[in-house]
Amino acid sequence: MKVAVGSDHAGFEYKELIKKHLQEKGFQVIDKGTYSKESVDYPLFGEAVGKAVASGEADRGVVICGTGIGISIAANKIKGVRAALCTNEYMARMARKHNDANVLAFGARVLGTDVVLGIVDEFFSTEFEGGRHERRVSLLSKIETENL
Ligand code: RB5
Repeated sequence: MKVAVGSDHAGFEYKELIKKHLQEKGFQVIDKGTYSKESVDYPLFGEAVGKAVASGEADRGVVICGTGIGISIAANKIKGVRAALCTNEYMARMARKHNDANVLAFGARVLGTDVVLGIVDEFFSTEFEGGRHERRVSLLSKIETENL
């Protein structure tokens, strides 16, 4: 599986951690930046990861900023992206099972590293449940096509 990762300066160190963690687990990681702790604007990196997932360059994405809020909003502006801001493993599991989330978002200034790695593992090991959730996810796509 190919995973696009992106963060702003606040999320840079966590991005590096997640990148290494995913690579060790056999994922192919596409790093969309940022590449240092120098101050940058989170929308650019949410957009880059969102586009990578929507275009098929990557199967999934991970986006990180200080709170996870700004960068998840940015990623969700891209058609086809379902970015889920998660603060615990339960949310990561349900984001996959019920929402078929294709981008995981979290806040580097909100969570500790142990929690984050647990969230990442849950997100990447949980399958979409389908069934009634298929209809609901289709309704999410309908919002995109009917509100240009
Ligand atoms: C940067 O200071 C901060 O605003 C950003 O990382 C993020 O938390 C925005 O949502």
